[in-house]
Parts: sequence; structure tokens; C-alpha cells
Amino acid sequence: MTANELRKMYVNFFKERGHHEIASASLLPENDPTVLFTTAGMHPLVPYLLGEKHPQGTKLVSVQKCVRTGDIDEVGDDTHLTFFEMLGNWSLGEYFKEESIGMSYDFLTTCLNIPKEKLTVTVFEGDELVPRDEVAARTWKSQGLQENQIFYYGREENWWGPAGQTGPCGTDTEIFYDLGKPSCSVNCGPACHCGKYVEIWNNVFMEYHKKSDGSYEKLRQKNVDTGMGLERVLTILNGYTNVYETELFLPVRNKLDEIIAVNETKLSEKSKRIICEHTRAVTFLLGDSKKIVPSNSEQGYVLRRLIRRMIRHLKQAGIEKNVLCKLAKIIVEQYGCLYEELRENELFIMEQLEKEYNLFNKTLDKGLKYAKLYFDKIGEDKLLNGELAFKLYDTFGFPIEFTIELASEMGITVDVGGFQHKFAEHQKKSRQGAEVKFKGGLSDQGEQATKLHTATHLLNGALQTVLGTDVFQRGSNITAERLRFDFSFPRKLTKEELDKIERIVNEAISKHIDVLCEELTVKEAKKSGAVGVFDDKYGEVVKVYTIPGYSKEICGGPHVRNTSELKVFQIMKEEASSAGVRRIKAVIGITKTF
Ligand code: SER
Repeated sequence: MTANELRKMYVNFFKERGHHEIASASLLPENDPTVLFTTAGMHPLVPYLLGEKHPQGTKLVSVQKCVRTGDIDEVGDDTHLTFFEMLGNWSLGEYFKEESIGMSYDFLTTCLNIPKEKLTVTVFEGDELVPRDEVAARTWKSQGLQENQIFYYGREENWWGPAGQTGPCGTDTEIFYDLGKPSCSVNCGPACHCGKYVEIWNNVFMEYHKKSDGSYEKLRQKNVDTGMGLERVLTILNGYTNVYETELFLPVRNKLDEIIAVNETKLSEKSKRIICEHTRAVTFLLGDSKKIVPSNSEQGYVLRRLIRRMIRHLKQAGIEKNVLCKLAKIIVEQYGCLYEELRENELFIMEQLEKEYNLFNKTLDKGLKYAKLYFDKIGEDKLLNGELAFKLYDTFGFPIEFTIELASEMGITVDVGGFQHKFAEHQKKSRQGAEVKFKGGLSDQGEQATKLHTATHLLNGALQTVLGTDVFQRGSNITAERLRFDFSFPRKLTKEELDKIERIVNEAISKHIDVLCEELTVKEAKKSGAVGVFDDKYGEVVKVYTIPGYSKEICGGPHVRNTSELKVFQIMKEEASSAGVRRIKAVIGITKTF
């Protein structure tokens, strides 16, 4: 099946079922200021999911171009992409779970002819706030799925959204294609990343609105928001092992191979994939109707980061000439029919690539030499300090993620917290006010929430010191006001224990300790004694935040730079959460009562 056939089949299927087709929106969301890019088909629909009337009705379908920055480091594997097309259908207060699941099942098994045995689905298992999704499970069974094809998971897997800090969200049911490989362990399931299951479609039942204070309110209407990854489905339907084998990547891949051959050079498979994938993303970003320009902030920064990464990978193969335009031209030709903006903006795309190449090429060689010099001098801690990372950024235009990638190839980690500090100092001085966006969405998080996040790590560490290392985290929830932390422990804590825990956290605050961040593989993180979730949820490399003497945890961040920023920590409440699980609520800074 070709990509075009799949796009058409999807849209027609839903049109026949009363849906109205809407055009792909810009990669810069208009109706959703909480995110940098359009990461899913639902972004242009946010106001309508919240209850406004959509001019095209209550049932919609689209093919939406999307960019996801969270997956940049995964690019090069078989399935993860920064740019992709999402096939989606929506019910705005119209049909709900049963009908949505029924249509998805029909489309997959009847139109795409996927045998039902190949499907595996996940369903929300329920928690203290929202019950187990019996309707979804029952509907899947009524369609003919067996019990062993249905997996139940909590919020980490089966709750979607909001995409930014606020917005519509709800439980979901995800549909996976089972590649038929043997299970990797007894716990093997769609949530594990061993490669047996590939996620192809997500049906979100949007019933809630997360507000800026962190609370959830019920929406006026019950919506359905679904999203299916075009590239992944195409890969599966054609029996390929990775997205780069599909017709979507073949032309650009052929061009790259041709360039490599002309230059009589070699490039690793991973580098080739990164270049092909980023070429497509960069062409779509530059060629968007809103013409994104490389810069040092926001979307422009992500674009710059992608282009500079491509340039370095090409340079690794000794390709010194600017070949970016040649590669981008292939994408314009290939997608120009469907996405006319690419053709309209072709000149702009080429000009920008030329400009960015010339700008970076000037400093790249020198920067690489300096980076090598810094790496050679690094001590046993194998940590590049924030000042040097900032120098590479400021003098040679190396985005921090670029430096992290270079360093990791040498087994070196980068003090990202230190870099951020230097960066902020610089910003203050130059009064530019520009903002670097970091993976994990630092800019999305309130300052107070960031502080509470670090306080949670200190609390977790103090609990282990006072109650023993058997204590482990069972849940955490942070609002702008307070932190809530659930942990395994069989009885009520005594006043003495609580005082001691509070004292330890305040001691760490008063010592003005720098919070360190390093990127380690899961294995290294484990070995270093870091606590946290060790399944491969975050991909192979995880961030480990250390507050020396008090805490070492795997975590996506963000965190404060120094513990002194928390001022003072106070436990407000200790209570039972469920059997064997205790809950602490605490505040920092100004003392508040609940
Ligand atoms: N918004 C959901 C997702 O991105 C469904 O499209 O997975």
C-alpha cells in the first residue's frame, strides 16, 4: 500500500461515516499557546474540544503534519520521528467510546486487512480519581479480542494530555501491532520497549480539562480524539522493519547515498537515518505557511538544532560542500502536491538552508577542535562543566543538545544545570529575553512547580534516610501550591520521624547545594545508585539528577540549579493513601495551611 492510498482510505472511511475533512494546519499551533509545535491533530481543535462550536460540525477527520521535539534523541531507531503525519478523527461531543473503538477496529481489520490476532490494546486500569475503563475493555472484547490481547495500565500509559501545561485530556485506549517476536519477559507487554509491540493508533476519550492550578474539571462535552501514525502503519502494512524503508524516505535516502558515493565516503546507518529524517522535518518547518526561521529561541531554536545536527553528521563523512539544498529539494518535489506551501516557499527554504549552513560552517571546525580540547582535559568525573558547554554555545553556536551528543560519543556527560545557569546569566546581561527550550518542556513549567519538583527529590532521599531504603515512591503530584508524595510504608509516621525528615530537607536547602544533571544509560544510572523508574520508558539514555549527599534520582526534570532556591520546606500533612502506602503533602517558601 502506498502512503497516498492509506491517507485516502482513512479519510474516506471516516467521511463515509459522517465526518468532515479538515485541512492540515500549520506546524505552529494557533489555538494552543501551551506547546511549541503542532504535535497532534488535536491542537487546531482545542477550543472545540473545550466546547466551542466547530464550523464544520461535530465529526471531523484530518491528515495533520506534526513535529515532536521529545523524540529527537530517538531518531535513528526504527520508528521514532520528529516530523510525521497523523491520521486522526474526532467526535466533538458526539459519539464516544463504543463507536470510536468499533470504527477503529473496522478500519484496521476490514480496510487494512490486519488480522485481529495481530492487535493488542491497552486500557486505563483506574485509580483513586477515575475508575477502570470497563466500557473500553468490554467493547474490545465484543469486537472479538481475547482477554490476553488487552492490557491494563495506569496514568503513565493510558492517560493522554494535556499536550502542554493546560488543556483537554482524558483516559485513552492505545492500539498496538504485535510483530510476532517472542515476549522479552513475563512482564512483556505493549508498555515495554523490546520491539515486539508497535503503537499505531491512540483513541483518547477527552472528558477533562486540566487547569493551570493543576486541578481537573469535567468538560462540558465528551470528546474523542484519535491519532494514527502514517509512517508506522505504512511500515507494518508493507512488512518492512523500519520507517526508512517506506516510499516516504526512499527518495531522500537515494539522494544521500548518491552524494555519499560521489564523495567516495561512508556514513553509519544511524547517521544516514538522522540526516534523512531531519531533512524532511527541516524542509517542512522552513516551508510552513508560517515560515519558521532558524534562531536562538523557541521554534527557531529547534529548527537550528536540527539543521546543525545534520551538518555535523554530513561533516563526519567528510562532505564539506553544502548538500542540504539538494536533499531538501527532494522533499519539496515529493510532498509538494499534498503540501503546497512547500512549493510556494521553496526559494525561502533554500535561502535559509544556505544561510544557516554558511553561518555554522564558519565556526564548526574551530568549535569541534575546542570541544576536543575540552574533552581531552576532562577529569575522572567525565563531566564537562557548564561554563565550557556555554562557551561552545556562545562562541561556536553549538546548541546544548549538540554538545551533549558530541560528549556522549566520548563517554562524557554535560552539566546541563551549570549550562542553564550560565545561559541565564548571559540573558540577564544582554537583556535579550530569549529562551532556550529544553527537552522535557522546562518553559512549560512554573517556577514554583520546578522548585517543588526538586523538593520532592529531597523528600524522597530524606524518607530513605529516616525510614530505610525499602521505602519507594508510589506516586507524585505537584501543583503550583504544594507537592504530594506517595510512598510505600506500612504505618503512620511518628512526629519525631516527620521532624527528622523535615530537618534533613531543610539542612540540604541551607547548604546551598548545586543540583547536578547527567545523562546516563539506564544501566549506568542503576549502577550509580540512582532511584527511579528503570524501565526503558524514557528511552535508552536517562537524566540523573544528583543533590550530593541527599538524593540521586532518574528524572526528566526540570529542577532548580541550587537547593537554596527552595528557601524553606515544611510538611503539612501525613496520611494514609491506600493499604501500605502513605502520603505526604508539603510546601516550600512561604508557609501555607491547607
Ligand atoms: N492526541 C492523541 C495523541 O497524540 C491522539 O491523537 O496520541
